[in-house]
Amino acid sequence: MIVMEGINKYYQVDQEKIHVLKDISLTIDEHEFVAVMGPSGSGKSTLINTISFLDGDFEGSYKFMGENAYRYNDEKLSALRNRSVGFVFQSFQLIDNNTIMENVALPLLYGGMKQSQTEDLVMEALEKVGIADKYNKLPKQLSGGQQQRVAIARAIVGNPTFIVADEPTGALDSRTSVEIMNLFQRLNEEEKVTILMVTHDPDSAAYCKRTITVKDGEILEEGVHHAV
Ligand SMILES: Nc1ncnc2c1ncn2[C@@H]1O[C@H](COP(=O)(O)OP(=O)(O)O)[C@@H](O)[C@H]1O
Ligand SMILES: [Mg+2]
Repeated sequence: MIVMEGINKYYQVDQEKIHVLKDISLTIDEHEFVAVMGPSGSGKSTLINTISFLDGDFEGSYKFMGENAYRYNDEKLSALRNRSVGFVFQSFQLIDNNTIMENVALPLLYGGMKQSQTEDLVMEALEKVGIADKYNKLPKQLSGGQQQRVAIARAIVGNPTFIVADEPTGALDSRTSVEIMNLFQRLNEEEKVTILMVTHDPDSAAYCKRTITVKDGEILEEGVHHAV
């Protein structure tokens, strides 16, 4: 599904060119559940932002679903991103003044669907994450764990090719983190959702089937987990 070869990426800061991704080669297949670990500043977010078509400015080869996904212009990149990727963030990133239902409908509306067409799909996604009864609430009426479930529903509602989660348990206590990781695990196993997750937390990474460790912009090691 994702095949990267010899990816290099640089950030220009003032006169200095910083080498952020160094000769990254990586293959991720459909239905995988992958953790990306490594120290702060090592390039984890840059790597998953590149994989998820947020940033097309890199060198090397990126083939997605068999097609070259590099040298795309911004418009093509955002079209590919909108139909292929669901995003989950550490800080949930829900819209405060929108109901849960409206928040989850957003990717579908961006995709050109009419409001009335979104409702069944939204309720289905909310059922998958176990909070269908909250559809009419506002984000602030929900706990952190419930808000992250809403964000996960928003990520899966459009049936994307894969979802990326950057530190999804970073703002949650350990008991709630376990609930969210159990949810990701169930979505991966039962709904066959492909998940790429950045985490600092070894307990969260242990739910994934595979761990990629990034250090100083390089892939340091790869490990396969046994089921927990
Ligand atoms: N937009 C940017 N402009 C310049 N430098 C950046 C930018 N984003 C990240 N960096 C730098 O790139 C390196 C990797 O950052 P990042 O991918 O965010 O690491 P991580 O997610 O592992 O903490 C860091 O040195 C960071 O300061
Ligand atoms: Mg990061």
